Parts: sequence; structure tokens; C-alpha cells
Amino acid sequence: MSDHEERVFSGVQPTGNLHLGNYLGAIKKFVALQERHTCLYCVVDMHAITEWQEPEALRRSIRELTAAYLAVGIDPKAHIIFNQSQVSCHAELAWIFNCVARMGWLSRMTQFKEKAGKHRENASVGLFAYPNLMAADILVYKATHVPVGDDQKQHLELARDIAQKFNTDFAASIAARGHGDAFFTLPEPLITGPATRVMSLRDGSRKMSKSEESDMTRINLADDADTIAQKIRKARTDPEPLPSEPAGLEDRPEARNLVGIYAALCDRTVEETLAEHGGAQFSAFKQALTDLMVETLTPIGEETARLLTDTGHIDAVLADGAARARTVAEPILRQVKDIVGFVQG
Ligand code: AMP
Ligand code: TRP
Repeated sequence: MSDHEERVFSGVQPTGNLHLGNYLGAIKKFVALQERHTCLYCVVDMHAITEWQEPEALRRSIRELTAAYLAVGIDPKAHIIFNQSQVSCHAELAWIFNCVARMGWLSRMTQFKEKAGKHRENASVGLFAYPNLMAADILVYKATHVPVGDDQKQHLELARDIAQKFNTDFAASIAARGHGDAFFTLPEPLITGPATRVMSLRDGSRKMSKSEESDMTRINLADDADTIAQKIRKARTDPEPLPSEPAGLEDRPEARNLVGIYAALCDRTVEETLAEHGGAQFSAFKQALTDLMVETLTPIGEETARLLTDTGHIDAVLADGAARARTVAEPILRQVKDIVGFVQG
């Protein structure tokens, strides 16, 4: 990898059930991007432990997410699949960013507020500093593009703020060390398409999430055909037929969610989907959606389960990815330390 090409980085937390939101908001896009970019896809296990994880469950989830990356068709030879904790550069740069980012910036993060809730005093320090580690993940590779779901937008803005402040605070040192007038380029978020925020199947005002108690609110990548059919059949809708134009979905969050999911699954726009299904009753549309979902997701679930029977192979993919990730990150981290003023051997 040369220093100036476009480079894609993204991460997913190994915290249990991968669901349709993770797939449409992020992982499906990871697959498409590998055609034209050099990509690093990370299993962010250090982010996972910002909230309590049982060690054996964490180990299983890391392997499961790795298997899912492979099952959707990410090529681990042409690109890099690895887990964060095997590349210590992330943690080292995150510490430096802990000293660049301001308390006030992090206090405004809505995800921290949501996750810490009323128990703020009892949240881990890691949960508060989480976005600094995320900025380090991206910037330690000088990644240029970051595909994520809509809920990560604020964290990416913070990563850009950190990059900018680092460039400004250290401007003289950056210039003196021959890096010109900026060391980090600001990473671009890629938050596009009809399913950047997939909602709960039971409540169109809530995000589909791994932490939601009822399994009926989400489709998991591991669900079998019958489970998918049952969840879609029971998904909340309204009594009207589908409109033929997107404007007709306003104030109909559940309908909008299902149409967005359908469109994203078959790589069409909401307009195209409504041109085809406008006027249909939900009973018919739900059947079409179930068929499409079963066709797309069940092979991924089955392939993930198959790959998981050989943990030796999974662990080898991660070790190889980590070794290659280090060759990109180490020189960049070295330059950062030099800019900051650390003496290195
Ligand atoms: P996480 O599981 O929190 O690590 O999320 C992994 C990726 O999935 C991130 O890019 C998220 O933005 C994305 N994601 C999570 N939930 C949803 C959702 N309901 N809709 C769209 N994208 C999502
Ligand atoms: N915070 C992201 C999430 O929960 C995961 C993540 C960690 C990430 N590091 C990243 C995403 C770097 C993109 C780039 O979804």
C-alpha cells in the first residue's frame, strides 16, 4: 500500500448477534468497496470491552464476526481482516488522542449518553474515551473513507476534529519534520443508500439493535428461513397499501423501514422499489421481502456456521491480517511519535 492512495477502514464490535442493520448499514458496503479500494476491516474487540463481556463469549464473538466477514465475500488476501487487540498501534495512538481530544467534545457524544444512561458515574472510562480509540483506528492507517451506519456519524465528525486539532497543535513540528502543512487528511464518512438506519421491526422509531431485549425486533444474520418468515410476518405495519412515491412514506416509519430494507437488499432505490410495489398490500409485500431476505441472508448464515467449525483457519486469517496491518500502521505511528516529541530508538 502506498502512502497516498484511497484507503477504506471500518470496524464492527464483536458483541453478539450480527443483525440486518449491521449488514445493510455496514458489512454489505464493505464487500462492494473492495472492488476499487484497498480495505481494512477490523473486529474491534477493544471497543467491545468498554462494556462488560464474558471472556468466552467475547472469544466466540470475535471468531464469529471474522467468519461473517469471510462469508459475505470479503477477500482476506487482497484486503486485510484482523482484530484490533493484535495491533497495539491502535491503543498507542488512542492514548495520544486522549491528550488531543477535549472533555467537552466527548461529553457531547450521544452514544455515550445513551449507553451510560442514568448510571454515568458507573460507566467505564473506556466507554467515555471510545471515540478517541475509533479515531485512532482510522487515522493510524491514514484511511480516507469509512463506511458506517448513520449512528456513527457523530463519532466520525469527532475523528475529523481530532485529526484537525492534531494538525493545528503540531503544525510547526509537522512542517519541521518534512510533512508539509498537514499530517492527517480528514477521513470521509460513507453513509449512503436506503438503509443507513435500519429500524426495529416492532417500532419504527427505534433503531434495530443487538441490545434490544426482544429478538422479534431484529433479523439476525444467523436466523433460519422460518425465523425470518415469522419475524417479517409479525413486523409492525399500518393498514394502508404501499404508496407509489417516496413522499407517501412520510409519517409511516414502519412502512418506510421495510421499503428501505427491501431496496437495500436488492441494490435498488426506494423510488424503484415503490415503482414496482406501489399499491401492494403489506401481505403481498411482506412475502416478497421474506423471499428476498431468505435468499440473501441464509447462505451467509450457513457459510458463517460452516467456517466456524474450523477456528484454526479463522485464527490464521486474523494473525495474517494483523501482521499486514502492522506494516501499514507502524511507520505512521512512528512518525506521529516523532512529531509529538517522543525520543525513539
Ligand atoms: P456495531 O455493532 O455497533 O459495531 O455496529 C457496526 C456497524 O453497523 C456500524 O457501522 C453501525 O453504524 C452499523 N449499524 C448498527 N446498527 C445499525 C442499524 N440499525 N442500521 C444501520 N446500520 C447499523
Ligand atoms: N464504533 C463503531 C460501531 O460501534 C465501530 C468502530 C470502531 C468503527 N472503530 C471504527 C467504525 C472505525 C468505523 C471506523 O459501530
